Amino acid sequence: MTGIADVHSHILPGLDDGAPTGKVSVEMLRAASAQGIRRVIATPHYSFQFRNADPRRIRGLCRGLNRKAVKEEIPCRVYPGQEIMYSEKALELLGKGEILTMAGSRYILVEFDPSAPYSFIYMAIRKCATEGYLPIVAHVERYRSVHGPGKAQELISQGAYLQMNYQRIAGKWNDDTARWCRSMLKKEQIHFLGTDMHNMTSRTPEIARPLKWIERHLEAEYAEKILWKNAMKILADEKIL
Ligand SMILES: [Fe+2]
Repeated sequence: MTGIADVHSHILPGLDDGAPTGKVSVEMLRAASAQGIRRVIATPHYSFQFRNADPRRIRGLCRGLNRKAVKEEIPCRVYPGQEIMYSEKALELLGKGEILTMAGSRYILVEFDPSAPYSFIYMAIRKCATEGYLPIVAHVERYRSVHGPGKAQELISQGAYLQMNYQRIAGKWNDDTARWCRSMLKKEQIHFLGTDMHNMTSRTPEIARPLKWIERHLEAEYAEKILWKNAMKILADEKIL
């Protein structure tokens, strides 16, 4: 395999509840790279809580972090994106270019309130797809309403791609969410994995245990898709079929 890609990260400094300083951003990139991560899409929050992440600033911070990576010989590159708290208003701003898609592609990383009803998520996905976006549901394991039988599958049929956080895969046997995550992966219904890294203390780019589980339980071909190939489709703006 060429490497591992991370499509969900809060690695850029000072924009949201992610990296507090540029120094921590470099440490996060170094830690990610040490575990085989070679591409990172930076996805600072767009929500009512965090509004200071404007596209030019995000792109500039990515360029700055890539320059530091080259200088410090860290073999990993960062691309601009955003994690968008879904609303009709957010879609409107996306259309005006005031919120970023993933690495300039048609893919967008969309999140919802954890208690969002299924009908709301379903309508949101339909709306994004109708407007020509390729919506990726961020940390899909977080929405209880999507855990019901056939729900995730139905979202996929409406044009959704599903992203799961690495950390949730490695949960204990009695952790319901971890069990759901592992069954989704075994059914090959997840398209992307992300660290959702925020810092170097509580939400780090640690992926060793989840990787071990993936290696043991999933077909090599599917594992390569969720670890690397599907993310390359984002960078190339190609649709995953
Ligand atoms: Fe996130």
